[in-house]
Amino acid sequence: MNVTASGRRVLVSGAARGLGRAVARAFASNGDRVAVHFGSREEEARTTLASLEGSGHTLVGGDLAEPAGAVAVMDAATEALGGIDVLVNNAAVNIRHPLAETPYEEWVAVWQRHVAVNLLATANLSHLAARRMIDQGRGGRIVNIGSRGAFRGEPDHPAYGATKAAVHALGQSLAVSLAPYGIAVASVAPGFFATERVAPRVAGPEGEAIRAQSPFGRVGSAEEVAAAVLWLASPAAEWSSGTILDLNGASHLRS
Ligand SMILES: NC(=O)c1ccc[n+]([C@@H]2O[C@H](COP(=O)([O-])OP(=O)(O)OC[C@H]3O[C@@H](n4cnc5c(N)ncnc54)[C@H](OP(=O)(O)O)[C@@H]3O)[C@@H](O)[C@H]2O)c1
Repeated sequence: MNVTASGRRVLVSGAARGLGRAVARAFASNGDRVAVHFGSREEEARTTLASLEGSGHTLVGGDLAEPAGAVAVMDAATEALGGIDVLVNNAAVNIRHPLAETPYEEWVAVWQRHVAVNLLATANLSHLAARRMIDQGRGGRIVNIGSRGAFRGEPDHPAYGATKAAVHALGQSLAVSLAPYGIAVASVAPGFFATERVAPRVAGPEGEAIRAQSPFGRVGSAEEVAAAVLWLASPAAEWSSGTILDLNGASHLRS
C-alpha cells in the first residue's frame, strides 16, 4: 500500500452510531478523511460527522440491502472523497430468531435479511471498492466486522452467526485474490462490546452473565474494536492480510 499512514480516503458503513461511529472517529483522529455512511439514522450520522476531527469528511446515506444501493453509496463516497483507500464493512443486522420459537415465514424473511445486509452488502461494497483501488493503482485496505458468534455459535441468532462466518471466509478469499494489487483484507471477530444496540441486554437481567463470559469480567468497548480496525487498515498491517482477529477478552479461545 503506497498511500501514507494518514490522509487516506475511508468509507465506513453503518457509522451513525455504535462501532461505526467509533471507527469513523478513529480514522479522523488519525488524519484520514471519512465518508460516514448511514442506513436510516441520518440525524445520528450527522452527529457522528460533526464529532470528527479534521476536515474533508462527508455523509452518505443508502440502503445496502439492495445491490443498486451499494453502488449509489460507493459512487457518492468516492465522488466526495476523490477516491477510496480503505473500506470498513461494519453495517449489519442482528435479529433474534431462535428456531423453536420462529414461524417458517418469519425464519425465511430473517435469513434473507441477514444474507442481504451482512453478507451480500459486504461482498458488493468490497467489489466496488476493490475495483476502484485496482484502477487507482495505489493498493488499499478492506476491514470486515465479523463476530465471535461465527465460531462460538449463536443459538438465538443463527443467521447472524452463519453470515458472519461467511464474512470471515469472504475476507480470506479476497485477501488472496487482491494481494497482487497491494490490497490487504482482514476481519475482526469481536465478542460483546458496549454499543447502543446491545445496551439493553448488557444493562438487563442477562448483563451479569454477559460480563462473566470474559475473565476480565466486563464487555469490550467500541473504541477497543475501532483501534484494532485502524491498525488493520494501516500500511504496517499488510502482512496480517487474511487474518481474523479475535477481540473478545479471552471469552472464546479457538485453536
Ligand atoms: N456490539 C456487539 O457486541 C458486537 C459484537 C460482535 C460484532 N458486532 C458487529 O459490529 C458491527 C456494529 O455493531 P453495533 O453494535 O455498532 O450495531 P449498530 O449500531 O446496529 O450498527 C450497525 C449499523 O448497520 C446499519 N445497517 C443495518 N442495515 C442496513 C442496511 N440495510 N443498509 C444500510 N445500513 C444498514 C445501521 O444503520 P442505520 O442505523 O443508519 O439504519 C446500523 O447503524 C456490526 O457488524 C455487528 O455485527 C457487534
